[in-house]
Amino acid sequence: MTKLEIVEELLRGRSRRPQKEEGKAFAPANIALVKYWGKRDEELNLPVTSSLSVSLGRRGSEVCIRPCENGDRFYLNGELLPADSLFARRLRSYLDLFRPEAETGFEVVAINTIPTAAGFASSASGFAALVLALNDLFQWQLDLRTLSILARLGSGSACRSVYEGFVLWHAGNRPDGLDSFAERLEETWPSLRLGLCVICDEVKAVSSREGMRRTTRTSPLYAAWSSTVEKHLADLRVAIAQRDFQLLGKTAESNALAMHATMLAAWPPLMYWLPETVETLHRVWRLRDQGVPVYFTMDAGPNPKLLFEQPLTDRLEREFPGLVVIAPFEPAS
Ligand code: PMV
Repeated sequence: MTKLEIVEELLRGRSRRPQKEEGKAFAPANIALVKYWGKRDEELNLPVTSSLSVSLGRRGSEVCIRPCENGDRFYLNGELLPADSLFARRLRSYLDLFRPEAETGFEVVAINTIPTAAGFASSASGFAALVLALNDLFQWQLDLRTLSILARLGSGSACRSVYEGFVLWHAGNRPDGLDSFAERLEETWPSLRLGLCVICDEVKAVSSREGMRRTTRTSPLYAAWSSTVEKHLADLRVAIAQRDFQLLGKTAESNALAMHATMLAAWPPLMYWLPETVETLHRVWRLRDQGVPVYFTMDAGPNPKLLFEQPLTDRLEREFPGLVVIAPFEPAS
C-alpha cells in the first residue's frame, strides 16, 4: 500500500475540508532509551524493531496550520523556510496526503520550545504536532493510535511524540503498518532527568534515513541488533516498573552503544561522534567509576544525553558546563 492509500483508509468517513480557520497543537520531543535504527519499509517508515522513548514534557514543537492561497508557506521559529530547502520539500510532500484540493496550500507556523542551540532533531515533535494540528483543523477526532500512525508516515520517531511520558512503539509486522503504532506506558518517574550536552548544533552530514539504509544494507553487525533490542526492551520495562535506575541507565547506554557499533561496521563507515563526544563519554565513565550514577544515550549525532536522577542535578551542571537539564515528568518549569 502507498502512503496515500493508508491515509485514505485511516480517514475514511472523516471530513476532508477544514472545519475552522486554523488548527493548533503542541507535541513533545522524545529521546529513545531503546532505539529505532533500521526500516523494514522505507516508504512507510516501518521499523525492524520496537523502541521505547521518554517524551520531554513541554519541550517540543507548537504548530499552527491554516489553508492559504498561492502555495505553501512554512515558518520555523519566526523565519520563512526557503521553498527549495530539504525540510520544506519534505513537509510539502507530507501535506500532499491531506490537501482538500490539489491546489490548496497550507501556511504552517512552527515554534520549537526545545532550545534550538541544543543540536536537537525536532522532526519528531514537528511531525507529531503537525498531525495533531491537522486533526484540529479538520476536526477528525481521531484516536491517538491512529494519529500515531499518521505521524509515523512523516517521520518514524514522530509516532512516539504523540504522547507524553514513557512511550513504546510496536514494530508490528503487517506490510501496511496498521499495527505499527506507539502507545503510552502508565508508569511515571518524577525524579528522572535528561541532560543534553551540546557539542555541535550543525545539521548532520548523513541523515538518519541514509544512516539506517547504509547500516541495514552493509553492516555485518546489523543482524545481531534485533535480538539485542528484544532483551533491552524487556530489561527497560522491568527498570521502569521497578524504578531501578541502574538498570535503566545500563540498558539505555548499552543499547545506544550497540546501535553506534552497527554504524561503525557499515560501509562506508558511519561515525556521528566528534572528539568532544568521546571526551564527554569518558567523563561519564570516570564519574561512574567514582560511584556517581550517571549514564548516557546518543542518537544519530554528536551530542550525548545524560541520564540521572534529580539529586545529581547541581553536581552534573558543574561537571558539564552548559548542560541543558530536562525533567520529563515535572510540570512545566
Ligand atoms: O525518526 P528518525 O528518522 O528521525 O530516526 C530517529 C533515529 C534515532 O533518533 C537515532 C533513534 C530513535 O529511536 O529516535
